[in-house]
Amino acid sequence: MEFEQLVAQRRSIRGYKPDPVSKEVMQEIVEIAKRAPSSMNTQPWNFHVLTGEPLERIREGNTERMLGGAEVDREIKMSDHGYQGVHRRRQVEIAIQLFEAMGIERDDKERRQDWVMRGFRQFDAPVSVVITCDRELADDTVAHFDCGAATYGLVLAATSKGLGCVINGQGIMQSAVVREHANIPEDEVIMTCVAMGWPNEDFVANDVVSRRVAVDEDVSFVGFDD
Ligand SMILES: Cc1cc2nc3c(=O)[nH]c(=O)nc-3n(C[C@H](O)[C@H](O)[C@H](O)COP(=O)(O)O)c2cc1C
Repeated sequence: MEFEQLVAQRRSIRGYKPDPVSKEVMQEIVEIAKRAPSSMNTQPWNFHVLTGEPLERIREGNTERMLGGAEVDREIKMSDHGYQGVHRRRQVEIAIQLFEAMGIERDDKERRQDWVMRGFRQFDAPVSVVITCDRELADDTVAHFDCGAATYGLVLAATSKGLGCVINGQGIMQSAVVREHANIPEDEVIMTCVAMGWPNEDFVANDVVSRRVAVDEDVSFVGFDD
């Protein structure tokens, strides 16, 4: 697939067929992701590719804790005041697009809650790839940049093979559950996970195309003639 076409065609996939993804295919995808650049070639990332029973136990643990009202337990830090201003507006915009596609009304608390719980179950994808950062560099934001580069490489590699994915912060909101069932070593910090599988073409939210701000809003060209 042409690179531009690949990038343009990719979108977050939140509905999957139950069909398994083979270890061989996942190995190829991870090898492509590992070609990402990193600061001084430090390669601070690790990939934990999960399927089957361990992934089911993570879904169950996440669901149980979130339904039980457990505090969010992330290893990667986020701001404690949530998104605000322009970032909040963009967050709301994509939520509206997804809920409209799914036919979920604003005041339909039950279906909204169901949607959130699907996220904690990693959208029932047959595979989840947990990306961790070596703890030695976990406070070094350059290493986070490196892990992000590898994660996008992973997503594009999977897309090029016809798989669908969504980078899924919800899947690691109970990181202790993920750590236990994925057997993550103590010298690694959980950054995110990517839910992955063969897209369900009948799942309408998979057709949602997220928007981007216009180039003149977040790109500046300096020193060009025109
Ligand atoms: C770090 C990160 C975490 C994300 N976490 C979630 C998540 O928990 N649930 C979800 O539905 N989408 C999640 N997404 C997907 C974003 O919502 C999505 O990338 C964004 O809305 C743009 O849509 P697109 O990927 O279809 O272009 C996440 C994306 C990133 C990069």
